[in-house]
Amino acid sequence: MDAKRNPGLMFSLLFFSLSVNNYLSLGADTISANQPLSGDQTIVSAGGSFVLGFFTPGNSSGSKYYIGIWYSEVKVSTQTIVWVANRDKPVSDKSSSVLRISDGNLVLFNESQIPVWSTNLSSTTSSAVAAVLRDEGNLVLRDGPSNLLEPLWQSFDHPTHTWLPGGKIGLNKITNENQRLISWKNSEDPAPGLFSLELDANISSYIIRWNRSIQYWTSGPWDGKIFSLVPEMRTNYIYNFSYINDKNQSYFTYSVYNPSILSRFVMDVSGQIKQSTWSNYTNEWFLFWTQPKTQCEVYAFCGAFGSCDQISQPFCKCLKGFDYKSPKDWYLSDYSGGCVRKTPLQCENTSPANGQKDKFLTMPNMNLPVQAQFFGVGTAAECESSCFNNCSCTAYSYDANNCSIWIGELFNLNQLTEDQIGARTLYLRLAASEFSNHKNNKGVVGAVVGSVAGVALLLGLIVFVILRRRKRAVGTAKSVEGSLMAFEYRDLQNATKNFSDKLGGGGFGSVFKGTLPDSTAIAVKKLESISQGEKQFRTEVSTIGTIQHVNLVRLRGFCSDGSRKLLVYDYMPNGSLESQLFHEKNPTQVLDWKTRYQIALGTARGLVYLHEKCRECIIHCDIKPENILLDAEFCPKVADFGLAKLVGREFSRVLTTMRGTRGYLAPEWISGVAITAKADVYSYGMMLFEFVSGRRNSEPSADGKTRFFPTRATSIMKEGGDVLGLLDPRLEEKADVEELTRICRIACWCIQDDEANRPPMSQVVQILEGVLEVNPAPIPRSLQVFDDNRENIIFFTESSSNQSSQARSNTSAASSQSKSDGQQQVWRPEEQLSENV
Ligand SMILES: *[C@@H]1O[C@H](CO)[C@@H](O)[C@H](O)[C@H]1NC(C)=O
Ligand SMILES: *[C@@H]1O[C@H](CO)[C@@H](O)[C@H](O)[C@H]1NC(C)=O
Ligand SMILES: *[C@@H]1O[C@H](CO)[C@@H](O)[C@H](O)[C@H]1NC(C)=O
Ligand SMILES: *[C@@H]1O[C@H](CO)[C@@H](O)[C@H](O)[C@H]1NC(C)=O
Ligand SMILES: *[C@@H]1O[C@H](CO)[C@@H](O)[C@H](O)[C@H]1NC(C)=O
Ligand SMILES: *[C@@H]1O[C@H](CO)[C@@H](O)[C@H](O)[C@H]1NC(C)=O
Ligand SMILES: *[C@@H]1O[C@H](CO)[C@@H](O)[C@H](O)[C@H]1NC(C)=O
Ligand SMILES: *[C@@H]1O[C@H](CO)[C@@H](O)[C@H](O)[C@H]1NC(C)=O
Ligand SMILES: *[C@@H]1O[C@H](CO)[C@@H](O)[C@H](O)[C@H]1NC(C)=O
Ligand SMILES: *[C@@H]1O[C@H](CO)[C@@H](O)[C@H](O)[C@H]1NC(C)=O
Repeated sequence: MDAKRNPGLMFSLLFFSLSVNNYLSLGADTISANQPLSGDQTIVSAGGSFVLGFFTPGNSSGSKYYIGIWYSEVKVSTQTIVWVANRDKPVSDKSSSVLRISDGNLVLFNESQIPVWSTNLSSTTSSAVAAVLRDEGNLVLRDGPSNLLEPLWQSFDHPTHTWLPGGKIGLNKITNENQRLISWKNSEDPAPGLFSLELDANISSYIIRWNRSIQYWTSGPWDGKIFSLVPEMRTNYIYNFSYINDKNQSYFTYSVYNPSILSRFVMDVSGQIKQSTWSNYTNEWFLFWTQPKTQCEVYAFCGAFGSCDQISQPFCKCLKGFDYKSPKDWYLSDYSGGCVRKTPLQCENTSPANGQKDKFLTMPNMNLPVQAQFFGVGTAAECESSCFNNCSCTAYSYDANNCSIWIGELFNLNQLTEDQIGARTLYLRLAASEFSNHKNNKGVVGAVVGSVAGVALLLGLIVFVILRRRKRAVGTAKSVEGSLMAFEYRDLQNATKNFSDKLGGGGFGSVFKGTLPDSTAIAVKKLESISQGEKQFRTEVSTIGTIQHVNLVRLRGFCSDGSRKLLVYDYMPNGSLESQLFHEKNPTQVLDWKTRYQIALGTARGLVYLHEKCRECIIHCDIKPENILLDAEFCPKVADFGLAKLVGREFSRVLTTMRGTRGYLAPEWISGVAITAKADVYSYGMMLFEFVSGRRNSEPSADGKTRFFPTRATSIMKEGGDVLGLLDPRLEEKADVEELTRICRIACWCIQDDEANRPPMSQVVQILEGVLEVNPAPIPRSLQVFDDNRENIIFFTESSSNQSSQARSNTSAASSQSKSDGQQQVWRPEEQLSENV
């Protein structure tokens, strides 16, 4: 593309484009000595993937221009910046600023022709130096036209906030330069922000730091295949990570097995490292991995005197008596500036005018801020006065005779709920006048002596109204579209003893046990971050209410009280499959094979109902053992269906936060094609392996071998190996070998890469019922990546009886023989079916 051009023509073209300021592109991938870049000109990489030019970030209108690299519009329709040159030195006029080769460096000159950014190499005089934008998004400075030359400089060695495939994050041991990802300051300012991802080469692990100092997340050390604290990498079939550690440098790099998948890691302004892939289908980035998982785990995210609340939007609030330091930054989701006191403390005032003293505000359910000073044991009053007597003391906490005080600004405060670990009471020092301002504060009502009568009257009225409303609600809980009950918040608060008995948590919210006045047990789900309006919420809820099946958890009712949204379900006494399968308390209570088989079958039936029998096909999107609940008879009930729609566009965020492991996620989620019911089939298949092994697929087995269980199972199934050897050792081989073989085979088919090769759930049911036979499946390509001794795929040709005859034990051989001899149909994937037709 960067062919020989007539430089004279080039110059006149350039002059033309500068003078009329149009959108003429240089049409090349190179900036060379006589081809500078200015104004609206861009260069495009040879394969058309990336573009380099001036840009203005986000919605910031006006005069801040940066040189950046972004995906070409053909590939990614929303402008996505992957690299910025002059991060903290914008130019204000792009047509008189120029990016050109100067003294063997690539240099950006601002409107006064002063260099504001440079590749900073010790100058060479070679006139052959040119900068080329490569198709992987790497801007390379080289001395001469050959692609084979070692680059003098490359943007991949100087990443900004995005890590592209082929890029490096690590340490240059010669220059001692840390190649770290640094977040933008906010969504409109690419200047280096507070959060950075970098390599700790000493222990070959990644860490995320706040202000380049405090570490708040680590990947754990690299063991050659995965980072120890990122076990989900074990199920990673998209990326090939490698660690290079030599005399000159230590770094990680990665590639994507399927080059048509566009993927990136971003150190986000939220302080989280985020991994996403572009979806051609929805024209959006699909976010599928985030660390730390929740926003409030990010150190000091809300700045000084700010408090982070995971279940409200926005996440950050100022403490009572404080106000945003910079409302503009706050609006741009940059909370790091924190909050400032509205009223100065009395103790700072050398001549207190009104003689009032500072007071302490009681703040329940807070995690405690960092950097406390301990005052040892004493009484609560002593603790309070030790803080009170030192004007620099801003807060104290007193717990089990233990007095902690804080000097100066308070950082890293989180608002918790009562049931969370670490919830304590913090006493915050405020000027006394802050208290009388809050008439609603119960603690101060007494101060307003004059209006006591009025208040009492008002209270009486409120109580009266509440009582009436409650009476109505409890007595006749309004029925909405059929059988759903509309509950008042107070009723659910009472039923759950103020949400004291937590059954579990998840991406959609925590679940609490409760009892209705008629003593039916219920499970109440407090939904988090619902962005929907009232009407839409009710519509969706009543749709979910109409979905009823013996293998689906029944929605009894809901509560919608402003931002409080709750769903009320039947209570399931045996908890989730997750707890039964992975955490059984008593080894004699391990789920026996028959029960496991029935649970597999029931779950499949529930999914058939969702996929095929409802008016609209409902894709569950999150099939995993946590979402299969068990009633008193161990009849399985699928939970959490239909919620994806309730949560709406936030779903992809929810999806990533709720997944401890992404081992159940079908490849199409990440490759960005349309999601169909076959995505559930994939997750169901992954779960079937866990029925068999009794442990999580992503966990190392008891013998310490880290081989991914589905990989082991698929290859044993294909070879016709010892199927009983796959069984949960706690079952001591007590299983029907025919059923076991069947489940393993179905599981192998369900997790095929190509969704056309996965059976629909209705056929899974038929196979489990023994109505349909099933042959051994090929090993999915994505699993082969892990398989050290790879074998060629033998695609679906062998007959079932040859393959598994060794595996069949004497007990079931007879019955299976008779079945295969009969007229039984054999299930075949869609592709095979259509080939046969
Ligand atoms: C830009 O503005 C639009 C509409 O006002 C808004 O939806 C969007 O989130 C903004 N984008 C950024 C990056 O602030
Ligand atoms: C160009 O950059 C220099 C150095 O950063 C700065 O002093 C000067 O004001 C800039 N010129 C304009 C017109 O902004
Ligand atoms: C280049 O060097 C100058 C002066 O040493 C420094 O201020 C500037 O940040 C460097 N630029 C880059 C891109 O490293
Ligand atoms: C690695 O170890 C060296 C020497 O012990 C130390 O100076 C350096 O700070 C360590 N690096 C990190 C990232 O902790
Ligand atoms: C970050 O650290 C620098 C010094 O290392 C300090 O000057 C600055 O105030 C810190 N930023 C914040 C927000 O605390
Ligand atoms: C992964 O990347 C390394 C280094 O680039 C390469 O040697 C290796 O063959 C790749 N592995 C696979 C399975 O592609
Ligand atoms: C390290 O760098 C030196 C000079 O820059 C080079 O000669 C040598 O081959 C490099 N070593 C490795 C292992 O890459
Ligand atoms: C998405 O579309 C682009 C442009 O048409 C194409 O190059 C890419 O291969 C597609 N990606 C996938 C995963 O289909
Ligand atoms: C308040 O406490 C801090 C930290 O313990 C101490 O440095 C300071 O001297 C104290 N101030 C007074 C007035 O006692
Ligand atoms: C007081 O509490 C802190 C933090 O909870 C703890 O580290 C410390 O050991 C406690 N001190 C005593 C004397 O209990």
